[in-house]
Amino acid sequence: MQNTKQNIQPLMLDVLQGKQTNRVPFWLMRQAGRYLPEYRALRTRAGSFLDLCLNPSFAAEVTLQPLQRFDMDAAILFSDILVIPYGFGENLAYVEGEGPKLDPLNLDPSNLHALSDRFDLKRLAPICETVARVRQDLSKDKILIGFAGGPWTVACYMIDGRGGTGFPLSLAASQNKAFELDLLIDLLTQASIEYLRAQVDAGAQALQIFDSWSGLLSPDGFQRWVIAPTKRITAALKQSHPHIPIIGFPRLSGPLYLDYANQTGVCALSLDHTTPLNDLPPSTVVQGDLDPQILLKGGAELDQAVQACLEKFKDRPHIFNLSHGVIKETPPDHVARLSKLIKDYRR
Ligand code: CP3
Repeated sequence: MQNTKQNIQPLMLDVLQGKQTNRVPFWLMRQAGRYLPEYRALRTRAGSFLDLCLNPSFAAEVTLQPLQRFDMDAAILFSDILVIPYGFGENLAYVEGEGPKLDPLNLDPSNLHALSDRFDLKRLAPICETVARVRQDLSKDKILIGFAGGPWTVACYMIDGRGGTGFPLSLAASQNKAFELDLLIDLLTQASIEYLRAQVDAGAQALQIFDSWSGLLSPDGFQRWVIAPTKRITAALKQSHPHIPIIGFPRLSGPLYLDYANQTGVCALSLDHTTPLNDLPPSTVVQGDLDPQILLKGGAELDQAVQACLEKFKDRPHIFNLSHGVIKETPPDHVARLSKLIKDYRR
């Protein structure tokens, strides 16, 4: 009998629900960005990077650009993890060649208490408008991923005011100002919950928490400022939006990633290529983990590495991705090759 009412669930959702699929779905962190000429063109027209993030029409177009070229299985909202500090009214600028800059945060408890009333979700309304537009234009077999930074990673940029130097002030705070750091992480956790809920309400179908600098913390710090707040975020989202899968990315957390997997309540783990797979239960949904340097190089080495990555994860639910974002010098042809290799693979 012909099935007239076809129920096409996107492949990404199948895998996020723990199903083993024939074809492996894929998307790439930083799949939209400066390695694409069409991104650079729109970025110039928008003005600053933040102007681009806050322009729903441009941001929606940029979100969809990589899918038009490479047919990924998911779009990721084009925005940045530092829009949360922007939502708190902090001064945020992206300096060409240097990355994001904020005024280093004063960690006096009085300042942190003053900050607590300042998060204004309305400042992020244009981003939710981008989510709604993308969802409307995206085909039904693809999903839109929303995201936020892990509270610790966002705190690092707020405390140090910049990346690139290993976040010495944030690390000092984790040792000497643990109480103040608790207050800040608490504020960021609350704000992230509100912001992620708003993204889902606008149309995001899965969420990723980027904790890019979780690997800087001691095991105790990791428990306190990575695992505990992530657990609060997943619990809150589960309560309000029980069907939305959450992917966690505790980058460079080494063996601690197992505690993260077991305790935070995320439904999938984004791995980086330094993470050993030992002891991870075979049912755990994994995302990753090709080194973006190999994508940059291309050639036979890329072909072999993609094959090896697909084989490594073939007995578990797997979403193909990189271990960190696409490097801006990556030739788009290499991404096209990657897409073909993944699409041709069957397990
Ligand atoms: O993945 C995507 O395609 C979605 C968009 C996205 C961006 N940043 C766009 C961006 C996402 C998910 C992020 C997350 C993000 N931002 C993280 C976590 C992931 C990671 O990379 O570790 C972090 C730490 C940030 C903070 C940030 N934003 C940095 C350090 C920089 C500068 C680095 C650089 O590549 O210049 C940014 C700027 C930024 N965010 C760009 C893009 C496309 C480059 C901006 C430009 O056009 O000049």
